[in-house]
Amino acid sequence: MRQSSLVVVANRLPLDDNVAPDGACEWRRNPGGLASALHSILRQAPATWVGWAGGAGPPRPLPDIGTLRLRSVALTEDELRGYYEGFANSTLWPLYHDAVEPPLFDRGWWETYLVVNRRFAEAAAEVAEQGAAVWVQDYHLQLVPEMLRQMRPDLLIGFFMHVPFPPPELFMQLPRRAELLRGMLGADLVGFQRPQAAHNIAQLATKLLGAQANDRTITLGGRTTRTGAFPVSIDVAEMQALAARPDVVAHARELRGLLGQPRRILLSVDRLDYTKGIEHRLTAYRELLRDGLVKVRDTVLVQVAVPSRERVESYRTLRDRIEGEVGRINGEYGRVGEPAIHYLIQPFDRAELAALYQTADVMVVTPLRDGMNLVAKEFVAAREDGSGALVLSEFAGAADELNDAFLVNPHDVEGLKDTLLRAMEAEPADLATRMERMRAHLRSHDIMAWARDYLSTLDHTGRLAERLARRA
Ligand code: ADP
Ligand code: F6P
Repeated sequence: MRQSSLVVVANRLPLDDNVAPDGACEWRRNPGGLASALHSILRQAPATWVGWAGGAGPPRPLPDIGTLRLRSVALTEDELRGYYEGFANSTLWPLYHDAVEPPLFDRGWWETYLVVNRRFAEAAAEVAEQGAAVWVQDYHLQLVPEMLRQMRPDLLIGFFMHVPFPPPELFMQLPRRAELLRGMLGADLVGFQRPQAAHNIAQLATKLLGAQANDRTITLGGRTTRTGAFPVSIDVAEMQALAARPDVVAHARELRGLLGQPRRILLSVDRLDYTKGIEHRLTAYRELLRDGLVKVRDTVLVQVAVPSRERVESYRTLRDRIEGEVGRINGEYGRVGEPAIHYLIQPFDRAELAALYQTADVMVVTPLRDGMNLVAKEFVAAREDGSGALVLSEFAGAADELNDAFLVNPHDVEGLKDTLLRAMEAEPADLATRMERMRAHLRSHDIMAWARDYLSTLDHTGRLAERLARRA
C-alpha cells in the first residue's frame, strides 16, 4: 500500500466518469466548489485524495491526476440514500443553510452516516504515512476527525467546513448534535469560511459539551482544538490565463452575437440548488420585464444551472418549479427567436465558463445562503479589462471579501430589482474602480494562499508549509 504525507478526505473525488461522444469512458472535473478549490492545489501534489467516485457498487480503478493519487470509497445503494441523499443532503445541508428548505430527520440515516464516516476514516488511516497530515472536508464527514484520532493518534488532523456553520438556535435542532460536535473537535484545527462560524461552534461546545471555548480555541477533555476563518478561494491564475486565451476571447464575442447583440447581458451560474436563490432572482426579473424596466432584445438573462442531487425530492421539485417559471417568462415576454431567458442546464468546461464570464455585463450571484460562492470570484478573475458588474448576495461568504460588489439581500425582491437596475446602469468608471479593488484582493487571496494559510496553521512545525512552498 502506497502511503502519503498529505491526505485529503472529501465526500467526492474531483472526477466524474462520463461517456464521451465516441462511447469511450473519460473523467471530467466535477462541478462544485470543493472540487474546484482542491483540484487546483492538489493536482501536482504528492498527496492522496480519499473520496467517493459517484454511483453505487464496488470501487473502480482510478487514474492518478498528475502526482495526486485517488483512493475511492465505495457506497452501496442504501448507503447512498441514507448517508449522502439522507443525512448529509436532506438533514445537514438544509439546516446549515438557514433551513431555507425544512431539514428532514430520519433515525435510520444517522446509522448509515456513522457507518460511512467510519469507512472514510479507515481508508484515510490506511493511506496516511506515520505523522502525516490528514485534511477532512465538509459536512458529509463530520465524525471522521474523532474516529481517525482514535485509530491513528500520530496524525495531524484538520477539518474544513465549506458550508455555513449555523448559529446555536438551528444546530440545537439536530437529534445527534453532541456526537456531531465531538466528531469535528477530534481535529487539531477546525476551519470555517466566516468568523461567525467559529463563534457559533464555541458557543455550542460550551453549551452542549461543557468545553472551555472562545472564538479561537476549544478545550475538551484536556485536548485543545483551534478554530478560525479561512475563506476559500479560486485558482486566479488559471482563470486569468483562460480569460486571456484568444479562442476564449473570440468565443465570448461570438456568444454576444449569438445572443442577438443585446445592450446588456445578465448571467447567473449555479448548481441547481434551493440555496442559490434562483427563484427569487427569476421573480425579480419577471417583474422588471412586466414593468417595462427591462426589455427583451435590449437585455437578456442567461441562466446556467447544472443539475445537482437529482434523486433528492426537494431538488426535483425545485427543478420543476424553475423550469415552469422560465417557460412562463419566455412565453409571456419572449419573441420569436428572442427568448427573455436563455436557460442552459448542462455542465460547461472551464474555457466555456470563462467565455461566458467575459460576455456578461452583470453577473448575478444571489444565494439565500452560501458558504463562499466561487462563481462570484471566478467572474471577477475573468474580467481583466475591469468592465462588468457583480451583484452579490450579502448571505454568500464571498460578500465579506468582495464588498465592492453591488451587495443585495436576495429575500427583498424590491431591493433586488433596484440593485439589478443600478448595476445595469452604473458608470464604466465606477465599475472599473470596483472591479480593480476586487481583483487586487483576489490576486493576494487565491487558492494557494488559502491552502498555505490553513496548512501552516494546522502544522505548528511548518513542515507541510515548507513542502508546499517548495512545490509552488
Ligand atoms: P457550490 O460549492 O455550492 O457548488 P460554488 O459557487 O462555490 O458553489 O462552486 C461552484 C463551482 O462549480 C464553480 O467552480 C463553478 O465554476 C462550477 N460550476 C458551476 N456551474 C457549472 C457548470 N454548469 N458547468 C461546470 N462547472 C460549473
Ligand atoms: O461545499 C458544498 C458542496 O457540498 C461540496 O462538497 C460540493 O463541491 C458541492 O457542494 C456539490 O455537491 P455534490 O457533491 O452533492 O454534488
